[in-house]
Amino acid sequence: MTAFALRGRIAHCLRDPGPDNDPDAIEAFEDGLLVIEDGRIAQLGPAEALLKTLPETLPVTHYDAHLIVPGFIDCHVHYPQVDVLASYGKQLLDWLNDYTFPSEARFSDRAVADETARFFVDELLANGTTTALVFCTVHAHSVDALFEAAARYNLRMGAGKVLMDRHCPENLCDTAESGYRESRELIERWHGNGRAHYAITPRFAPTSTNEQLRLAGELANEFPDTLVHTHLAENPDEIAWVGELFPEADDYLDVYKRAGLLRERSVFAHCLHLSDQEFTNMGRAGCAAAFCPTSNLFLGSGLFDLARARTHGVRVGLGTDIGGGTSFSLLRTGGEAYKVLQLQGQSLTGFRALYLATLGGAESLHLDDKIGSFRKGMEADIAVIKMGGTPVAARRHAIATSIEESLFVSLIVDGAQRIRATYAMGREVMTHDP
Ligand code: GUN
Ligand code: ZN
Repeated sequence: MTAFALRGRIAHCLRDPGPDNDPDAIEAFEDGLLVIEDGRIAQLGPAEALLKTLPETLPVTHYDAHLIVPGFIDCHVHYPQVDVLASYGKQLLDWLNDYTFPSEARFSDRAVADETARFFVDELLANGTTTALVFCTVHAHSVDALFEAAARYNLRMGAGKVLMDRHCPENLCDTAESGYRESRELIERWHGNGRAHYAITPRFAPTSTNEQLRLAGELANEFPDTLVHTHLAENPDEIAWVGELFPEADDYLDVYKRAGLLRERSVFAHCLHLSDQEFTNMGRAGCAAAFCPTSNLFLGSGLFDLARARTHGVRVGLGTDIGGGTSFSLLRTGGEAYKVLQLQGQSLTGFRALYLATLGGAESLHLDDKIGSFRKGMEADIAVIKMGGTPVAARRHAIATSIEESLFVSLIVDGAQRIRATYAMGREVMTHDP
């Protein structure tokens, strides 16, 4: 057995602390000790008391005032869009045609996919993200590239091949039948292989025929523990287009529901312009919304209503949505979530932001029995947030009087998002000098 411990300030969530910051939902230690055995969380408690019960030979890494939290979980991101970051001036549908599709076409070259996947995974780790739900491209080998890059660090990772059989450039189009067949082959190759989870990934309703969506639903039914990952109700023009393309559906969500894609483990990115009926149906089905504030602001798409989603029982995690989004950091993403909620008269505490970036993401992916918290037996995926990063961040952190305030500073202050170290399954996979 290999065992070691991390000492420092430690915080994790046991459930959603809600808008009123339920203190019983949080466990936090100013001087805590997290004991890891064989890649899993074995014990957590106050350092001095716990150390007395442990062998003196136990190796302990001391992170001083830095904050040890569960590894972040990014519930919606596109790895082939790294080079689409900062594409100027368009809303969703133009942005897709002008920037995104040309960039994704480059992934017909496996070497482009491999290089980008490695860069992407390194960037996740540099930002303390240990799990992500990832859009690849229509090319099956883009999925191999991503899962192989994640396996180098033994990361728990969800990903899938994009399904897209209409309203896209010829060189990015599959067919209903080839999309089904290639997705099935990828499920057989990757789902449950190490820490990999396959996600059935229709891009969004407008780029799939009813037949493609139906076959995706059939696949989801054949493999119920795979994820389903798509976009929903992001932009008003998109929603009007869906209404024209699917006149038989009651609403946007109903397009997916009719195809059998509304179910547990379905993750819908954005969910900005939904009716109560749609939120109710999402909540009842046990599916999740990915809250992507940097993308929703950058593309001018709208404001996610967290209170409404949670009232309807919808699971919610954070998504960076690179490259519509603007940052790999889930701390910065939490900071933008705070501002989006402020505009709607809602607040977001530091602890609730931590929840959304960790356990809320794990619940969204139905992986909260494995990741997202430091409960005993969980896989030891860990981020150590640097209390500093820039002179101004260090100065502001120095006057914070609680872990919650330090967390909030890490969301809001430029440069306070730096990560000191990242661990996957108990192994240090990224470290920055103190
Ligand atoms: N809707 C369909 N495809 C995309 C995409 O790549 N990014 C975003 N933000 N929305 C989409
Ligand atoms: Zn997206």
